[in-house]
Amino acid sequence: MKRIGLLTSGGDAPGMNAAIRAVVRAATHHGIEVMGIKRGYKGMIDGTARLLGPRDVSGIINHGGTTLYTARCHRFMEREGRERAAANLKEWGIDGIVVIGGDGSYRGAEKLHEEFGIRCIGLPGTIDNDIGGTDYTIGFDTAINTAMEAIDRIRDTAASHDRTFFIEVMGRSSGYVAMISGLAGGAEDILLPEVETSVETLIERLRTGQQAGKKSSIVVVAEGCEYGGAMALAEMVGERSEYKDNRVTVIGHLQRGGTPSAFDRVLASQMGVRAVEALLAGESGKMVGISGQKLQLRPLSDAWEQRTRFDMELLRVAHVLSV
Ligand code: ADP
Ligand code: F6P
Repeated sequence: MKRIGLLTSGGDAPGMNAAIRAVVRAATHHGIEVMGIKRGYKGMIDGTARLLGPRDVSGIINHGGTTLYTARCHRFMEREGRERAAANLKEWGIDGIVVIGGDGSYRGAEKLHEEFGIRCIGLPGTIDNDIGGTDYTIGFDTAINTAMEAIDRIRDTAASHDRTFFIEVMGRSSGYVAMISGLAGGAEDILLPEVETSVETLIERLRTGQQAGKKSSIVVVAEGCEYGGAMALAEMVGERSEYKDNRVTVIGHLQRGGTPSAFDRVLASQMGVRAVEALLAGESGKMVGISGQKLQLRPLSDAWEQRTRFDMELLRVAHVLSV
């Protein structure tokens, strides 16, 4: 193996740059070259790539986003697009690729592996922490802390005005970000896609809190929850109860940016080194995950077949503590 390709794909996540740095430097350490492919599979098809040396990745470990840029690419879903991409990889002399992204990006990598025999290793990069084969994805820790800080700030104003706030956090169809940021932010309730909660139950919980002396409340809502987000839920609560003067905050893409936490930088650094060493050892069609304190190589398909699920006990704890 002389040259590998590296790309970030799907939604960006804090810590992706630390992973890019780790892959480039680990490759240099082992005497192989890295072609940085820009804008994920789009760049693979369009032919936008350049060699990256260890100095090209200086000073990026502390930056959010991805210096390789990212994209969602529909052309890659078609065989014709992948043929073009595989031809470019061949032209660039690339013997294997490292893909940093979520399960969609892995599905693409698996197709390159199956259809064209291109060796590939995936690194889990998404704020959602929703993919199997790993306890944590790169970016999740930073995102939950950003969401928690936003909840803290809103609590200041909610308390000052005796108000009820509905705060929507990201996570696509997973409630992991909502669960952890809500518990850490002391939310009165947390609405998750994984658990059905009727509007009436939520209203009852708000009333119980009020009877116990609460003057303001925070409800954290996962974007994927059954009501279609915080705005719709707040309207329903307003229509069906005395909680009419409520407010809604959608944190949105704020959760995707910002300085990566130490946890995400260290995770990305460890995983980047492991990805290069896995390719060198002849591995392919695998992802690097972490289980307990240990890195592990798992089949790429674990990402979508074994979704990461948080412990539902956490929700019970949140309810116990919102008394
Ligand atoms: P993530 O990697 O964060 O889950 P997406 O689901 O948007 O993000 O996937 C990123 C990209 O991976 C897509 O835009 C597409 O180019 C590629 N991809 C996703 N699913 C497939 C698939 N089934 N076959 C081929 N490529 C795919
Ligand atoms: O997968 C990361 C994520 O931020 C999800 O939490 C969210 O649903 C989605 O991406 C938003 O995607 P976009 O940036 O395309 O709006």
